Amino acid sequence: MDTSEAIHPDRVGPIVVQEAWGTIGRARALDHMNGVYVLRGERASLAFVFLEEKVFRMKMFMGREVDLSTTIAVLPRKGEPLQAEVEETERSWKLSCGELVLEIEKKTSALSVFDREERMIARQNTVSWNPRGAVHSVYDMPGDSHFYGLGEKASFLDKKGERYTMWNTDVYAPHMPEIEALYESIPLLVHMHGKCSYGIFLDNPGRTDFDMRSHGISYTIGCSTGDYDIYFVYGPALKEVVRGYTGLTGRIALPPKWALGYHQSRYSYMDQSEVLHLARTFREKEIPCDVIYLDIHYMDEYRVFTFDPVRFPDPEGMMAELKSLGIRIVPIVDPGVKKDPKYAVYREGVEKGYFSRKLEGDIFFGDVWPGTSAFPDFTDDKAAEWWGNMHKYYTDMGIPGIWNDMNEPAVFNNSKTMDLDVMHGNNGNPKTHEELHNLYGMLMSKATYEGLKRNMDGQRPFVLTRAGYSGIQRYAAVWTGDNRSFWEHMALAMPMVLNMGLSGLAFSGPDIGGFAHHTSAELLVRWTQMGVLFPYCRNHSSIGTMRQEPWSFGPEIESILREYIGLRYRWMPHLYNLFHEAAETGLPPMRPLLLEYQDDPNVTNLCDQFLVGSDVLAAPIYRPNTEHRAVYLPEGQWIDYWSGEILEGGRHILAHAPLSVMPLYIRAGAVIAEGSPKLYADDRSDETLTLRVYGAKAEAGFHASYSLYEDDGASFDYVSGVSSMIRFELRGGENELELSYRYERHGYTANRNLVRFALVCTAFKPAEIEGLKELNPEEAEHGQEGWYIDRQTGGLVLQIQDRTQGATFKLKG
Ligand code: GLC
Repeated sequence: MDTSEAIHPDRVGPIVVQEAWGTIGRARALDHMNGVYVLRGERASLAFVFLEEKVFRMKMFMGREVDLSTTIAVLPRKGEPLQAEVEETERSWKLSCGELVLEIEKKTSALSVFDREERMIARQNTVSWNPRGAVHSVYDMPGDSHFYGLGEKASFLDKKGERYTMWNTDVYAPHMPEIEALYESIPLLVHMHGKCSYGIFLDNPGRTDFDMRSHGISYTIGCSTGDYDIYFVYGPALKEVVRGYTGLTGRIALPPKWALGYHQSRYSYMDQSEVLHLARTFREKEIPCDVIYLDIHYMDEYRVFTFDPVRFPDPEGMMAELKSLGIRIVPIVDPGVKKDPKYAVYREGVEKGYFSRKLEGDIFFGDVWPGTSAFPDFTDDKAAEWWGNMHKYYTDMGIPGIWNDMNEPAVFNNSKTMDLDVMHGNNGNPKTHEELHNLYGMLMSKATYEGLKRNMDGQRPFVLTRAGYSGIQRYAAVWTGDNRSFWEHMALAMPMVLNMGLSGLAFSGPDIGGFAHHTSAELLVRWTQMGVLFPYCRNHSSIGTMRQEPWSFGPEIESILREYIGLRYRWMPHLYNLFHEAAETGLPPMRPLLLEYQDDPNVTNLCDQFLVGSDVLAAPIYRPNTEHRAVYLPEGQWIDYWSGEILEGGRHILAHAPLSVMPLYIRAGAVIAEGSPKLYADDRSDETLTLRVYGAKAEAGFHASYSLYEDDGASFDYVSGVSSMIRFELRGGENELELSYRYERHGYTANRNLVRFALVCTAFKPAEIEGLKELNPEEAEHGQEGWYIDRQTGGLVLQIQDRTQGATFKLKG
């Protein structure tokens, strides 16, 4: 006998009804209340707030009252919003504020954004929604449009013709151009057309999408739940968009210097003796390394906040030896807490109500590495604080950094994540997981960062995360998840990390050598050559794959890797300087050429070469058995780092690069700050600072300059002014150069004696330097003050004691 189920409504397949999409309709009035301009439409309203000269917010809402609270992505704002001038005509309202003019058409509520010269920057034609709460907006896409940002996405730099979803997803395989969602969700779209660029940040941590493919002359932005809450950031320079966006969502916290070193990881270094052997091998082989990672096998049956008592019987002893070698440990911590009534962390989480629950009250359980697990509800401050405090377990052992993985959160089920109807507490404003999904990983890393900081006695913590949302840069570095040892994935890492840098994630990088599949000697060399110039530099590989520690392929490969890792350490002062710039301005250390040469059509989608800061150009080899490649040198002169040859820019050249060479160029007139060779970043044994000037010219008009930021690289003392800024300038005159060096600020005293100024790749040879004597090689070696010609480079070196009062020297030809 059949039951009523036989006539189940879904048996016949989905019933197709035309969904009723609503639009704002006619604009009826424009109200102004305390700096908020509200456009009252027929069916919905738009609130506008002018935050800065180039930044405004626009939020759609129904009903009378608008809620202008924000997600945690947006930093709390100081000060009142700006006032706009309002002009009403028969056709429209015009709101002028700062550098922008917004025109809202009365008939359609369409919005056009102009600059003060009446050039159209952007146009939002419609915003519509369906009865289920999805919102969809349509923007103009001129023929010369290019798109960037969007955080961690596969494919090329320019996202024109692509479509993406923001939904943090654990994608073990495949990382391919067609993958729409990966681990991180940064709903920032940067649109460039002509000489103009702007960013649109949709602050919605639910599922959102960006479609630059399907609608001909328009692109669309949508969200499936929650608010249509837009921040518009005008350039026209891309750098201004990055500055503006990171002004809203925050910039990286200045990392400890050791976090900029080379990191070594493997899933997993299985026991204490393997870890110690690894550390000793780095030191014996004199390969610089700052960090070793502990993957999941360090734990007792994958219980977070434990060490396996058999494999790691004496973590404190291990830490003590590692400390003497200058190596730090960063262990993995996943959010899944093993369901086990005998496990204190689980018990306490249950007893205090800290785990994520369904509305009906049941804890949500999902399978991850430890088996059935519960997941902290990081949206609740109390649970987050509890989690953060538990890291005392690690900090008490001297562990200064944590690796957050699986925090999308990943769950081994069909949806790959937590049930969408989990109800997060959200500090008394409960919301479903569907609405907050993309925030989960960021809130975990925030709790971790803050917990570490509370327990580290003024030292800077380091957190690495796989998942995140806009603003994650304030708490964690990001690695790009489970790539493979494919040449294609090496190439893919460039545009991916470049766009992450344009999206606020200045401290990012891939698993060098590739995580899954098997690396080869050649791939490891090429990937390391490239990877040492990425902001985050970690070699990581999966269980069961070929070993890829630097010595895994014999002495010849090892010595190439040693040299490139060594280069990262030699350039550490410069790199740290760039990180300081990123912390201050949001501009990433690793940059697409586009960021510096926005108007050069050759670089619109150039993403197989990149800049470190503005002056170092790297062009990795990313194909097997390849010794040549085309390199584009932008306008100006560039110096081949290896040969010293001076090359005219504004053209493509063919670079020759046998295995030991990654093509590398320095902008003529650039200055790079170098430190002494080191095996770990905060080794203070000899801190001679060398300012290397490339291609100086003894002629009027030549000017090179550099500002070097310094602090202790470890503590938060810099926040209260314990830092220095050294200003260096070199000016050309007729057959002479004037070199000056001074402390613009001197709150921190570096542990060094000598400062060297090395002029390389220059035709200039001084006959005399006022106030400095010429040194013979022995005097030079013994650190006397004076000048000499370096026998290796043939370049001129001025060597002086570091003087806080600064110095000026005239170099006469
Ligand atoms: C995930 C991570 C990977 C890690 C592994 C085991 O796949 O992405 O980096 O090694 O889990 O913890």
